[in-house]
Amino acid sequence: MIAAPSGGPSLSLGLADAEATAALGARLAASRPARAVVHLRGELGAGKSTLARALLRALGVTGTIRSPTYTLIERYAVAGGEAAHLDLYRLGDVGELDFLGLDELQDAAALWLVEWPERGAGALRGPDLVIDLAIDGAGRRAVLHAAGDVGRDWLMRLGVPPTEGT
Ligand SMILES: Nc1ncnc2c1ncn2[C@@H]1O[C@H](COP(=O)(O)OP(=O)(O)O)[C@@H](O)[C@H]1O
Ligand SMILES: [Mg+2]
Repeated sequence: MIAAPSGGPSLSLGLADAEATAALGARLAASRPARAVVHLRGELGAGKSTLARALLRALGVTGTIRSPTYTLIERYAVAGGEAAHLDLYRLGDVGELDFLGLDELQDAAALWLVEWPERGAGALRGPDLVIDLAIDGAGRRAVLHAAGDVGRDWLMRLGVPPTEGT
């Protein structure tokens, strides 16, 4: 279990529909730092893949964006390097990650989007941003937790004061 970064700034946002989730992905893309690790947490259906897909689209990925549910990882060329989208839901054992060549990728990929990061605990680089998504009525709620300076600056660039939740 990876605990949410504690003590750092966080931002809570209501997402009324899937378009709002996608819009958050686009905002994150527009304000992203040169290198970042994003952990996407939340139950099945919470909107993790919707957010990841919108972020990748906003970074200019034009082809099919496959769910990495079975492959565990999908990689994309984006401005400034490479983006890696992981979904560890089906990871049986953290040792399976050894076969993905993550070490080599740690340096190559400028952006990491990791669904179910809890399942890769110990094998993944620590996050700059943890996004907790939860079903909230017909919509969703996203709570963004910043870890370290990179995450904190990113939250600031999102244009909402980190203390001002909605
Ligand atoms: N803010 C939202 N409000 C309502 N439905 C949403 C919202 N965001 C995403 N969805 C929908 O929730 C469903 C599951 O989303 P998905 O991104 O696949 O979840 P996860 O990857 O967390 O399992 C999709 O049908 C998606 O369109
Ligand atoms: Mg998913």
